[in-house]
Amino acid sequence: MVIHTQKETLVQALSSTANNDKIGFVPTMGALHEGHISLVKKALSENDLVVVSIFVNPTQFNNTADLAKYPRTPKDDISLLKNLKGDVIVYLPEVSDLYDDSVSAKKYNFGGLENEMEGKHRKGHFDGVGTIVSKLLRIVKPDTAYFGEKDFQQLQIVKNLVSIEKLPVKIVGCPILREKNGLAMSSRNKRLSAKQFGEATIIYKTLNEVREKFSFTPINDLNAMVAERFLQNPHLNLEYFEIANEKTLKTAKRKSKDSKYRAFIAAFAGEIRLIDNMPLN
Ligand code: PAF
Repeated sequence: MVIHTQKETLVQALSSTANNDKIGFVPTMGALHEGHISLVKKALSENDLVVVSIFVNPTQFNNTADLAKYPRTPKDDISLLKNLKGDVIVYLPEVSDLYDDSVSAKKYNFGGLENEMEGKHRKGHFDGVGTIVSKLLRIVKPDTAYFGEKDFQQLQIVKNLVSIEKLPVKIVGCPILREKNGLAMSSRNKRLSAKQFGEATIIYKTLNEVREKFSFTPINDLNAMVAERFLQNPHLNLEYFEIANEKTLKTAKRKSKDSKYRAFIAAFAGEIRLIDNMPLN
């Protein structure tokens, strides 16, 4: 496993690979967990070599405290990746390798996807995601890039990004991996106390209950049920719950037969923000 901290040496290494070698790419912000590792394993099984980037991207944080406290565990990340069988190249840059003096994001129009859910609650977040993913894809030039479905809105936005910027890469979404108690794996889970970790399972339980009742319960009633579940739990603060159309990510008020729906939750355990989602039909 080779580690590059500068894009020039990474690009040089990639340009010396065989022409028909397939390159897979897994962009991450580090603090790697089994969810990330499952993406890397999938990428390794489908490509000749896999680039994993580890970079906490400042422009996608709308809250400076959240950026400062985002877990950074590069040594552990590297040992996890070293244990994998296959050709892995790590890109671990400093901010100055990816941004010039003005660390700022480009403004994007993702056809409205950016205005829903996470976009409403984290202003500018998807401009930051679009900016960094575009930069990384242009450096790595992968055949395929892999993204987790935990950030389902991000996945849809990245698909839109590569289409508007005409980037020749296939975007693959990978299923959410969960802890034994159902909590979606996330780097932010590292910040939860044991008690919060246990209590956060309400997110998964509620999503599951919504999925079970979806076919015979009006959306309004499901919304009320979820609000009630969180009111009863003093430890988790619901930021939003939405049932949305999987394609447009627009809030669904009632069900239409031909559409696919997903339930989305964002909630705070103390100051730690957790998100999760689940397909409903
Ligand atoms: O999902 C993430 O970890 C980040 O949003 C990404 C895609 C690596 C961009 O910084």
